Amino acid sequence: MYNTLLTELSNNIFIITVNRPDKLNALNKTVMEELSAAIDEVYNNNEIKSAIITGAGTKSFVAGADISEFVGLSAEQGKALAKKGQDIYFKIENAPKPIVACINGFALGGGCELAMSCHFRIASDNAKFGQPEVNLGIMPGYGGTQRLTQLIGKGRALELLMSGNMIDANTALQYGLVNYVVAQDELLGKAKSILAVINSKAPVAVTNCITAANAVFGTKVSYTSKVSDTFANGFELEVELFGKCFETEDVKEGTSAFLEKRKPNFLGR
Ligand code: COA
Repeated sequence: MYNTLLTELSNNIFIITVNRPDKLNALNKTVMEELSAAIDEVYNNNEIKSAIITGAGTKSFVAGADISEFVGLSAEQGKALAKKGQDIYFKIENAPKPIVACINGFALGGGCELAMSCHFRIASDNAKFGQPEVNLGIMPGYGGTQRLTQLIGKGRALELLMSGNMIDANTALQYGLVNYVVAQDELLGKAKSILAVINSKAPVAVTNCITAANAVFGTKVSYTSKVSDTFANGFELEVELFGKCFETEDVKEGTSAFLEKRKPNFLGR
C-alpha cells in the first residue's frame, strides 16, 4: 500500500516503519506524504487504538529530512517545506490515540523532530540524537527548536541546536528526551507492553489527557478537539475536558467496575 513505509496492525497497535534503510530512512517528499496518510489511518481506523513509529534496519530511526531535496530551494520554498513538515508533526502530536516513537538508531534533524512529535519515546541502546542542521547552514524547521526546548530545557536544547552535536541514548534518558533505554531486540516489545496497558483504559479519557497535556505548550493546531482553541490556558482546558469525561458511558462503567470490584469494559464513548 505504501512505497516507503511498512505498516502492520496487531492487537490494536498500528506499527509504522519508515522503510528506506539504504538512505538511513531519510524523509523525502514521498515518505512525508505517506507518513501523513498513515497518521490519517490512526485517526480514522477504529481497529487502531495506538501506534508506534520506528525505522527499518538496525542502524537508523530516521537520519533527517532528505538533504538531496534541499538543493536550490528559495526562501519561499524553504518556508513551504517547513510548514508542511510542521503540519504533519502537529497531526501526530494532536492524534486522539497514543503514538510512541521507538528509536532504533540515528534520530537526527527531522528524525529527532519526528520522535519529539510523538507522545513519548523509547530508545534502543545504540540510538543517537541530534539536530545537525547547522552543519548544513540551516536550522530545524519541523518544530525542533520548540519541542527540544520543551522536552529538555533551554540550555541543553540550545547547546544541541547550536553545536549540531549528537547525544547517546543514556544521555537522552538523563535529559528526559526518552522514557526508557532498552536493547534493540526489546524495543518494540517494551512499547507494545506499555501500549497494551494504555489500550485497556477508557479511550475518551486517554484522548483528553493528550489534548490537555498539549495545551501546556500552547499547541496551535488541534486535530482532536476544537475546544482547545477557545481556552486561555491548559488549566481551563483541563477543567472543560474533565467535565466532558462525565458525559461518557465509560465513566459510568469505570466507576461502577471499581465499586463492584471487577475489570471495566470500556466502549470508547
Ligand atoms: N538525507 C539524504 N541522504 C542521507 C541522509 C539524509 N539526511 N542521511 C544519510 N543519507 C544517506 C547517505 O547519503 C548515504 O547514501 P549513499 O549510500 O547513497 O551515499 C546513506 O544514507 C548512508 O549514510 P552514510 O553517511 O554513508 O552513513 P554513515 O554511517 O557514514 O553516517 C550519519 C551516518 C547519520 C552520521 C550520516 O549519514 C549523516 O550525517 N547524515 C545526515 C544527517 C543530517 O544532517 N540530518 C539532518 C538533515 S536536515
